[in-house]
Amino acid sequence: MKSLRIEEYGGVDVLQWKESPQPQPGPHQVLIKVDAAGVNYADIMRRQGNYPGPDLPATLGLEAAGTITELGSDVADGRLSVGQKVMAMGPQGQAEYVAVNANFVFPYPDGIDPIHAGGMPITFLTSYHLLKSRGALQAGDTVLIQAGASGVGTIAIQLAKEWGARVVVTASTEDKLELCRSLGADVAINYTETDFEDEIKSLTDGRGVPLVLECVGGPVLEKSVRCVASYGRLVSYGNASGQPANLSAADITTLNRSVIGFSMGRSPIGSLDHQGAMQELAPMIMDGRLRLIVDRVLPMAQAPDAHRHLASRGTRGKVILTP
Ligand SMILES: NC(=O)c1ccc[n+]([C@@H]2O[C@H](COP(=O)([O-])OP(=O)(O)OC[C@H]3O[C@@H](n4cnc5c(N)ncnc54)[C@H](OP(=O)(O)O)[C@@H]3O)[C@@H](O)[C@H]2O)c1
Repeated sequence: MKSLRIEEYGGVDVLQWKESPQPQPGPHQVLIKVDAAGVNYADIMRRQGNYPGPDLPATLGLEAAGTITELGSDVADGRLSVGQKVMAMGPQGQAEYVAVNANFVFPYPDGIDPIHAGGMPITFLTSYHLLKSRGALQAGDTVLIQAGASGVGTIAIQLAKEWGARVVVTASTEDKLELCRSLGADVAINYTETDFEDEIKSLTDGRGVPLVLECVGGPVLEKSVRCVASYGRLVSYGNASGQPANLSAADITTLNRSVIGFSMGRSPIGSLDHQGAMQELAPMIMDGRLRLIVDRVLPMAQAPDAHRHLASRGTRGKVILTP
C-alpha cells in the first residue's frame, strides 16, 4: 500500500507518498481501508519535528475515514463490523490503510459524505471537549473563539451557537470573517485592523467574557487572558504562532481567572468520553446543524500543496486528502 511518509523532519519536500508496509490490526484495533484523511495544523508541526508521534520513518495523519476490512482479535463488542463505514481518530491515517484503536472508531450512517467524514473527527471532538468538557460552556455565555475560520474554529462556532452561546470570533481577513458570520458568529473581529482586547472590553462593558478558546499563543494568548471575565476560563489548546507567551500572575489572580490546557492527543485513554461526544454530535451532523467546512480536497500525492496552504494561513475550514 501507499502512505504519506516522512523519514526526516523538515520542509514540505520531506513528504513522500510512497510504498510502505500495510499495518496489521493489533488485538484492540480495526483495520480501515481509507477513503479520505483530514489535514490538521498538527501535521505541519509533526513534519517540522515539533509534535510528538511514532519514531521516524513514520506515516503522517491524525484522522481518517473509510471501510473496516478487519477486526483485531479482542474487538468483539458488536459495535464494529467488517464492511462498516467509519471515521476514526489516531496516528498514521494519511495512507491507503490505517489500524486504529477501536475506542477511537465511530461508525457513521449513510448521508454523510465519505470524503468529508475523513475531516470530521478531530475538529468535531476538539470543539466538543473545548466547549463542554474543559470550557464548561453554559447557555447564555459569551465565548471568544480565536482563529474562527480555522478547521476547529468553524465547528466550535456552530456548536457554541447550538448550545445557546453568544459567539465572538477573530480572523485575519474579511473573507474569513464572512465565513464565521455565515456559521452564526454574532461578532467577527478583524484583529489585523482592530485591537481585539479593546473590542471585547467595549462589547462587555469592561467585564470580559466567561470563556475564551485560544490556539495562537504568544502575544495573542497574553491578550486573550485579559479578555476573560472574573471567574471565567481560557482554554489554551494550541500555539500556531510558535511564539512563547509571558503570562502575568496579576492578570490571572486578581480576577480569579482560570487558564486551562487542552491536548486531545495527549489525554490518557479513557479520560475523555469520545464515544458519548460523537453520539451527542451525530444528530446535529445528520440534520445539518453542524457542517464541516471543506476548503479543498487534494490527492495525497499533493500533500506538499496542502501543507503550504495551511502554513500560509490560506485555509477556511478543512483540507482533506484522498489516496
Ligand atoms: N489541543 C488539541 O487537542 C488540538 C486539536 C486540534 C487542533 N489544535 C490546534 O488548534 C489550532 C487550529 O488547528 P486547525 O487544524 O484547525 O488549524 P488551521 O485550520 O490550519 O487554522 C489555523 C489558523 O490559525 C491562525 N493563525 C494565527 N496565527 C498564526 C500563525 N502564526 N501561523 C499559522 N496560523 C496562525 C490562522 O487564522 P487567521 O489567518 O485568521 O489568523 C490560521 O488559519 C492549531 O494551533 C492546532 O495545533 C489543537
